[in-house]
Amino acid sequence: MDLTREEEAILNGEMGEGMQKAMELVTALGKIYGAEDLIDITSAHLSGASYKTIGDGGLKYLEDMAAGGAKVSVPSTLNPVGMDRERWAEMHITRGFAEKQLRIIDLYGQMGVRTTCSCTPYTGANVPSFGDHVAWAESSALSFVNSFIGARTNREGGPGALAAAILGKTANYGLHLDERRRPTVVIDAEIDGSVFSYSLLGQAVGMAIGSRVPYFRGIAPGVEEAKTLSAAMAASGSVALWHAEGATPEAGGFDVSDLEVIHIGEPELKAAYDKLNTVQDVQLIAIGCPHLTEKEMHQIAAFLKGKRKVNKDIEIWFCTSEEVRSKCPEDVKVMEEFGPVLADTCMVVAPIEGTFQRTGTNSAKAGNYLPTLCSQKAMCRDISALMELVM
Ligand code: F3S
Repeated sequence: MDLTREEEAILNGEMGEGMQKAMELVTALGKIYGAEDLIDITSAHLSGASYKTIGDGGLKYLEDMAAGGAKVSVPSTLNPVGMDRERWAEMHITRGFAEKQLRIIDLYGQMGVRTTCSCTPYTGANVPSFGDHVAWAESSALSFVNSFIGARTNREGGPGALAAAILGKTANYGLHLDERRRPTVVIDAEIDGSVFSYSLLGQAVGMAIGSRVPYFRGIAPGVEEAKTLSAAMAASGSVALWHAEGATPEAGGFDVSDLEVIHIGEPELKAAYDKLNTVQDVQLIAIGCPHLTEKEMHQIAAFLKGKRKVNKDIEIWFCTSEEVRSKCPEDVKVMEEFGPVLADTCMVVAPIEGTFQRTGTNSAKAGNYLPTLCSQKAMCRDISALMELVM
């Protein structure tokens, strides 16, 4: 790789151990993926924040990085952690877990990371602009900013995104390059337009195309639909970039006339639904994957207002960011008649497997990960159908 004199100096340890470790990782990734050089980034979003997912090994890595003086050099935000920082006892979290989780948050803070702990930082805390090169982890968020905003990031892992954040640079390959952003398959979609239909669409498309770059026709996503679609395709496949005719900023620039066309309609959505639903009764209903936006908080509160939770055997969690929760006190009051509105955590990165075995969600992403990462049997339905279970 072509490195500048300053980048060589960092690699040789002249700017401290933290910077050196970061440069070693970024250049190693660059060599693996054939990057010719490094590119400046304007922001980073980091995953690897829950003690459940990184364990003691990850905690030690962060201790070493912080002790080595590592500091991020671009605005950087953090993914959800394993618990609500104040209300962890309501999540059945042990004190031992809580102490380690708080230490992880503290270490990221020492390195200059904004410990916002949300998977939807693009709605407020960290909003890239069109054409920005960024280094984002969190598969749903990076797909959203690539696709709906037109920023450019690869599917970074937690350590790679942290290293890039420290350097303010990442390896210049993959989705940073024009030619890799071209669509490779057309999806003609037939859905009813509800947010839940975007979840099923994403599930069906991810199952059908894996990591290709889809170009959608027949959909008109807003923010909530785009976040849902991004999350679902990243989980059922590994889609990191998509385009939608008339809806995403790069879509108009491509000729798709010679691409394969896949039709997704009723039978494919039904197959996606069946794949996500493996149980008929649940102990926990968890809403907010990706984290609820203000608009969704208003919608859920409006739906629940005046209703009563009758079935006390089923717990309900609503997951959002502290930023959103603090802006919606009236909605929170209504929603908490049904269950806690938890901030900066979610049903997948929290250690729910210690308490629950069967969980319901409205998210295809959570529907994929609850069985694999949380040992759950999962139910995936729209919010009103889930709420019928308790009313
Ligand atoms: Fe966010 Fe957790 Fe879903 S991190 S995208 S709410 S699995």
